[in-house]
Amino acid sequence: MLCLGIETSCDESAVALVCDGRLKKELVSSQADLHEVFGGVVPELASREHLRVLCPLLDTLFQATNTTMQDLQGIAVARGPGLLGSLLVGMGLAKGLALSLEIPLVGVNHLEAHLLAPGLETTIFFPALGLLVSGGHTQLYLMESKTSFQLLGRTLDDAAGEAFDKVAKLLNLPYPGGAHIDRLGSGIDPDTALFTRPYLDNQNLDFSFSGLKTAVANHVGSHPELRIAHLSAQEVVENSAAVHPDVKKLCASFNWTVADTLRIKVERALKRLKQVRSLVVAGGVAANSRVRAVMTEVARNFHVEIVLPSPHLCTDNAAMVAYAGEILLEAGLSHGFDVEAIPRGRAIPRDYLQTGGSLQEC
Ligand code: KG4
Ligand code: ZN
Repeated sequence: MLCLGIETSCDESAVALVCDGRLKKELVSSQADLHEVFGGVVPELASREHLRVLCPLLDTLFQATNTTMQDLQGIAVARGPGLLGSLLVGMGLAKGLALSLEIPLVGVNHLEAHLLAPGLETTIFFPALGLLVSGGHTQLYLMESKTSFQLLGRTLDDAAGEAFDKVAKLLNLPYPGGAHIDRLGSGIDPDTALFTRPYLDNQNLDFSFSGLKTAVANHVGSHPELRIAHLSAQEVVENSAAVHPDVKKLCASFNWTVADTLRIKVERALKRLKQVRSLVVAGGVAANSRVRAVMTEVARNFHVEIVLPSPHLCTDNAAMVAYAGEILLEAGLSHGFDVEAIPRGRAIPRDYLQTGGSLQEC
């Protein structure tokens, strides 16, 4: 099935074509530069930018793949969670296309799409334990199959990526700051006593990162020399040698604290779920080099497969939406034109229309 994926849940406008589980082409237009000056995503600007770039992006996708709209056999769109205004832009386009082309439409759970994304590159053996670590979410799932997910734990406050971004802001690093903290801290020995690993003194699988962010804020408050002069993203990359060693030490220690906190909860889950065959780590923070190394080690110790998406599949993209949508459509699950966008904070309903399932060649 040739399935178009549309992603507009936050600040990336993205479209992709997936055919029979394989990615044909994906295009992403990032708004990071637009929001950087505000130190975070401005929802109103994000929606307008999606509206501006989405149709030209789609035209380019068709031209680059030598396909036309008429070749499409299914439309998948991220329906949430995300910024409501942004989601509505993608959903409007998806509904319009499905209506005019008379092909099936499915609204995809953005979080499940993140977890399924590595299936584009490798086989995921189910049941799997899924750790989703992104800018808006930190969650643990039992992934029973490609279409059945059970939430085991979640963050009670900030997401891991949010903590990365807020710490970056404290240090005066550009938004989004996770990748900068990762890069500045890599190759440096962390001070493992600098920050307490948060919310471990319990028996649950939930997370909490707001206390860690406050601890970093207090530390930076009493060491003002850690606030570097504001640098653009390009300058951080080009001038990282000029960044003070104490800033790099802080970054390494923060990377370690987040990764080790995640490790403890993942190990706790793996001890409880003996049937699990693989560990999937997904979302923007799955691009973090310390997180990747720690999770690879955990999987080895528990004799399960480690599944880590390539960095371009960790952050928001439409390939994962097209892939997850194709899986749903081929399982006979779709939506009517009344499918709703779901903002952050609300659970995504499993309100699919069930049909016979359609296996079409493309
Ligand atoms: O999954 P994603 O693209 O968007 C959401 O759905 O939220 O994740 C974005 C988050 C941002 O907070 C960003 O700072 C973080 O992922 N991120 C990283 C790295 N690359 C992106 N955090 C730590 N290390 C990285 N290398
Ligand atoms: Zn995401």
